[in-house]
Amino acid sequence: MDWLNLKDLMSNRLVLAVAAAGSALSVGYYLGCRQACTRLSGSRLKAVFGKNTTVQEERERTVMDYVMKHTNEHPVLGELREETSRHSRFVMMCAPEQSRLLAQLVKLIGSKKCLEIGVFTGYNTLSIALAMEDDGKVVACDVNREYTDIGSRFWEKAGVLHKIDLRIQPALTTLDKLIANGESGTFDFAFIDADKENMTAYYEKSLQLVRQGGIIALDNMLWSGNVVDESKQDGDTVEIRKVADYVGKDTRVDSSFLNVGDGLQLAVKL
Ligand SMILES: C[S@@+](CC[C@H](N)C(=O)[O-])C[C@H]1O[C@@H](n2cnc3c(N)ncnc32)[C@H](O)[C@@H]1O
Repeated sequence: MDWLNLKDLMSNRLVLAVAAAGSALSVGYYLGCRQACTRLSGSRLKAVFGKNTTVQEERERTVMDYVMKHTNEHPVLGELREETSRHSRFVMMCAPEQSRLLAQLVKLIGSKKCLEIGVFTGYNTLSIALAMEDDGKVVACDVNREYTDIGSRFWEKAGVLHKIDLRIQPALTTLDKLIANGESGTFDFAFIDADKENMTAYYEKSLQLVRQGGIIALDNMLWSGNVVDESKQDGDTVEIRKVADYVGKDTRVDSSFLNVGDGLQLAVKL
């Protein structure tokens, strides 16, 4: 191979490598943006991302504005979403369109008892509390009262504070106490959205606590697309892949996997 051909080949490879790296980055950025977009209104997005945006981001914003315009969000949920968008950790909030879907499932199966594993500022806790009758209960598990105090103000404003049984301690402790208290098979719905390292344990304990026909929903199952990127081998990503396989193959449930929010896996107890 002469020098010119070698140079051509190398520059072609370089172009390919740069193009591959660029598209990998933009896929990651797109997924990250998409995740953030689902949590923020258009005006808030402008404040967070600034004016220098790509066409793709503009489109994402417009799409999310359109989605939210047609999402039947309770006014107090809207206020809580806006308040959460100003929080430094706002990306932890459940995607509102996903939360609406979960609330509809909660209502559809006539839920009286729900579990929220990971509350943060309580967006989804409020959403499912609103979806239940006045005698419904949500056992809400978190370790950080600073986060949940934000939610409590809005739970009260929406008139559902009495439906929410907030337990500030590791979620595993709460779930073990519920089991020891003889509450196995009495819950209708569980939403798993806390630390990723305990996901399998949360799933197993939730499966014990929900009744036949009850639903377990697992959030962040796409983890901003990291689950399909083999170079990502950190603990959280590996655990999420493991749980997805575990739930997908579990013959005790009927499961599905939705590309909504950051990825949602649903398991109905058989
Ligand atoms: C992704 S956020 C939850 C978002 C929430 N579901 C919503 O609707 O916006 C995860 C939450 O899990 C909580 N968390 C982390 N480790 C926990 C543990 N071991 N037990 C209970 N909660 C935990 C965090 O404090 C945080 O508030």
